[in-house]
This record gives sequence, structure tokens and C-alpha cells, in this order.
Amino acid sequence: MKSLKEMFIVEVVKEASKRSTDGRPLRVLDLGCGTASYVPALLREFPAIEYVGVEPIAASYQGALKNLAGVDRAKVHFQLGYDSIQDEAEKSFDVVFSLSVLEHIKHLDRFLALGVKYAASGALIVHRYDLGHALHTHSLKEWIHVRLGNNVPGILPERQFVRYVPEPEVRALYEKHGVRVEKTTYHQMPNHKAFEKFQAAESESVKALFAWEMEYQKDILNIPVEKREKLFPAVAVWGEKGPGDLSQDSL
Ligand SMILES: C[S@@+](CC[C@H](N)C(=O)[O-])C[C@H]1O[C@@H](n2cnc3c(N)ncnc32)[C@H](O)[C@@H]1O
Repeated sequence: MKSLKEMFIVEVVKEASKRSTDGRPLRVLDLGCGTASYVPALLREFPAIEYVGVEPIAASYQGALKNLAGVDRAKVHFQLGYDSIQDEAEKSFDVVFSLSVLEHIKHLDRFLALGVKYAASGALIVHRYDLGHALHTHSLKEWIHVRLGNNVPGILPERQFVRYVPEPEVRALYEKHGVRVEKTTYHQMPNHKAFEKFQAAESESVKALFAWEMEYQKDILNIPVEKREKLFPAVAVWGEKGPGDLSQDSL
């Protein structure tokens, strides 16, 4: 079954596909791709894309290699999303995204700057992150990590890092790097996420939930931010890279 999150990825690629690539495949960069489990289905649905993932955890990277074995036009690089990406040209991607990653990023400025550096002028940039760890904490360990991440970020190692990410901070960093913010959307009501686990493949009800989520963003934005983030703890900031490249400053 396509999950709500996978439907979101499809939405991002559809949006990016509206931009002209002069007939060449749409280049997609996924920073912090994990095992890239959603990629084979994505490439089946959009055969004309070229997918590049970046993943720094060895086990997840190996998982991604396994999931992408035999998949044409898909590759993954084993590295942090701070460092230059070998064999990939700067300013060559039509869409740069990350999913459930920003809340784990210790050096957010550098991470966002890297994505901008590899984005072509006019590219779509979407970082969707999860506030669930911070707002719906499941364990004492998670609670402690979030408090440390929020207040003394230097203490936590990169791999255990997690924090609350304020949306205005992400917006400000987009602008700093020459990305025009188009909108912020909110997703993944905890009960919807629980509901989808019980649904069959190609469930019409889950598709309807996603369509509802996208259609009523205006109503969601009317909810005061604290309550909004609790109700919809996945936050996506959408932007377009401008013609100037300001991303070099922070790298
Ligand atoms: C919750 S997982 C999400 C994986 C995948 N995007 C998904 O949605 O299934 C967070 C991912 O961010 C990656 N990550 C954490 N810090 C990173 C960094 N500095 N650079 C790149 N990736 C990072 C982790 O290794 C992990 O795979």
C-alpha cells in the first residue's frame, strides 16, 4: 500500500515535473534517504526520473543499495548531507527533498545549504520533517534526547541527535540561501497514521485522507501554531531556488 508519506513524495515529484527539463530526465536528490524503500515504486510510477540518495548510516546505506539493486537511474551515496557529493554536478537537480530528516540534523544551516548548492536555478526544494519526537514523545530516552537537542545540541552525537525544529528557522535559512519560500504544509495526523496501518493495498480511504490533507491546508493554517503542530506533526517547507547562488557562504 502507498502510505500517506509515500503519497506526499509523489505529490512533490508531480509538482517538480511541472517544471521544464528540456526533455532530459528529472533529477531528484533525496538527502537522508534511509533505506530508500519508497524509491523503486516511485521510479515505476515516474520512469523518467533520475534518483540520487544520500545516507550516512552504514546499515541504512546497505539497505538502500539492496532496495535499489537492479533499479535503473537510481543511486545512493554513503555520506553526511554536509559534504560535497562526489560525481554529482552542482546546480544539476530539479528537485531536492528530505523526509523525516531535519529534526535529526545537528548543523541545519550546512545541511540546507548543501541541498541548495546541488539544486538548479528554479528547482523545487522541499524539506518535510517530523515534530513527533518532540511533541508526542514515546519514551524517557527520547524525551531526554529532545531536551538535550533543544538546549545543549553540542552534547549529542550526530547519530543520536533529535530536536524540535521551529518552522520560522527553516524559512529563514531558505531565504538566507536564496530559496524563495512558497508555502508550508502540515501532515500526518497521528490518528490518520494509525488508521492507515489497518488498510489494504491501494486503499481508497487512505487516498481520500491524503487528498483531504492537501485540500484543506488553509483550514489547518487557521489553527494556532502550537495546536496545529500537535495535530499535524509533519511539517513541509516548500521553496524555489532563485537565480543567485547564496549557498556557498555556509559550506
Ligand atoms: C527517520 S530517517 C528517514 C529516512 C527516510 N528519509 C524516510 O523517510 O524513510 C532519518 C534519516 O536521516 C539520516 N540523517 C541523519 N543525519 C544526517 C545527516 N547529517 N546527513 C544526511 N542524512 C542524515 C539518517 O541516517 C536517517 O536515515
